[in-house]
Amino acid sequence: QAATRVGAVAHDLVIVANRLPVDRVTEKNGRAAWRRSPGGLVSAIEPVMRAHDGVWIGWSGGNEARLKPFTVDGLHLVPMAMSETEISEHYEGFSNGTLWPLYHDLIAKPEFHREWWDTYVKVNRRFAEKAADLAADGATVWVHDYQLQLVPQMLRELRPDLRIGFYLHIPFPPTELFQQLPWRRQILEGLLGADLVGFQLPGAAQNFVRLVRQRVGHKTHRDLVYLPDGRTVRAAAFPISIDASGFEELARSEAVTARAAEIREALGNPRKIFLGIDRLDYTKGIYARLRAFGELVSEGALDVDDAVFVQVAVPSRERVEHYRNLRDDIDRLVGRLNGDLGRIGTPAISYMHTSYPREEMAALYRAADIMVVTPYRDGMNLVAKEYVACRIEDDGALVLSEFAGAAEELRQAWLVNPYDMNGMKAALLEAFQAQPKEVTRRMRAMRKQIAQHDVKAWADSFMTELELAEDVQHTKTLR
Ligand code: G6P
Repeated sequence: QAATRVGAVAHDLVIVANRLPVDRVTEKNGRAAWRRSPGGLVSAIEPVMRAHDGVWIGWSGGNEARLKPFTVDGLHLVPMAMSETEISEHYEGFSNGTLWPLYHDLIAKPEFHREWWDTYVKVNRRFAEKAADLAADGATVWVHDYQLQLVPQMLRELRPDLRIGFYLHIPFPPTELFQQLPWRRQILEGLLGADLVGFQLPGAAQNFVRLVRQRVGHKTHRDLVYLPDGRTVRAAAFPISIDASGFEELARSEAVTARAAEIREALGNPRKIFLGIDRLDYTKGIYARLRAFGELVSEGALDVDDAVFVQVAVPSRERVEHYRNLRDDIDRLVGRLNGDLGRIGTPAISYMHTSYPREEMAALYRAADIMVVTPYRDGMNLVAKEYVACRIEDDGALVLSEFAGAAEELRQAWLVNPYDMNGMKAALLEAFQAQPKEVTRRMRAMRKQIAQHDVKAWADSFMTELELAEDVQHTKTLR
């Protein structure tokens, strides 16, 4: 098949994701260029891509109509153009106005619009066609995340010879919530185009299998779905992780060590630093955690000379209404808390609305005594894992929401229910007052977990299971 596609270069591995693993940057001379984005996914997939002559299909983040395939650090990248309407209806609309809130426990109200759905289908089809074009005979295609759930089925129709894996980076909702979606059956059938569907947690995989049985009517047994055409689809958990040794090395570097000391100094060397780093997203529980901290200060349990809260909020999805409102709410809260509780030179909250490179993040992690991660719902939460990887001296307390996927692995954190304001205040105070021995005991255990389960192990296990999944199909057809 590959040979008949004149002019197309065939690849043995195709990664399909909404975003390319690079960011558009402006160089000193004013020219636009690409820079590798700091995300862990690229570093995980990079070795696999190199070993298999891989290519990565994704959106550049802009609205350029024409962009040619290009190579950065030896990685082959194929940009997908998105029109303004598509950005607004596929990315901001169906992906982030419908699916994101629906898959995150309805923390915000999802909107259901038929035009958004139509554009979602159209964009998914274009990604599937591009993947079909680039994949060699019998190649492996790995499709990522909620923006592209129809790609597996569309791709299988175009290219039945391919081995297709799908991985969902965000939670998969309980069946009762998923049923609200007017296009629930199409999404389930879209995912069933894959040989292996991966989720963060076992509970998510179970939700999916149950929905397939109830809504589509296929036979299932444990983690397997049996399709009428004889194919088998497996649904399983692959908790994602970070480049733990990379972060640790960075945290140990002289530059980061010096920068961490500088940060503490700049904050007036308070006894303890609390830290939050999140995309500015309503699922992250930023507002509630700042309120909890504010109450502790106003009640006198904490003093601004002893403690400061550093909150970094990374700008995100700024044209979506829920996100704009959230920004205003947090601006107002931070202003009020500092106005009420701060003193000259010692604010209660040190708030930054910006994104930082990995080096600065590592320095913040090293400077912070207490990391506060309190999402209402989160697929995994890699910030919690990054903090642990950077605590090279086995100290530092992690306050972590029970509703982050990471809580299933980081059992020694101070676990909290972010809806319980008093519980959250108590946990912040306990972490603040904990004995160094206790902090170290907990951190050691968490560091061991992260060192043993890094992002490379994650990518390897998904790829291995995907190969096995295909073998199951083969033995079936041979029988
Ligand atoms: C989450 C999603 C990713 C997404 C990222 C950033 O981690 O799982 O698919 O790329 O957020 O969001 P953005 O909308 O900027 O791509």
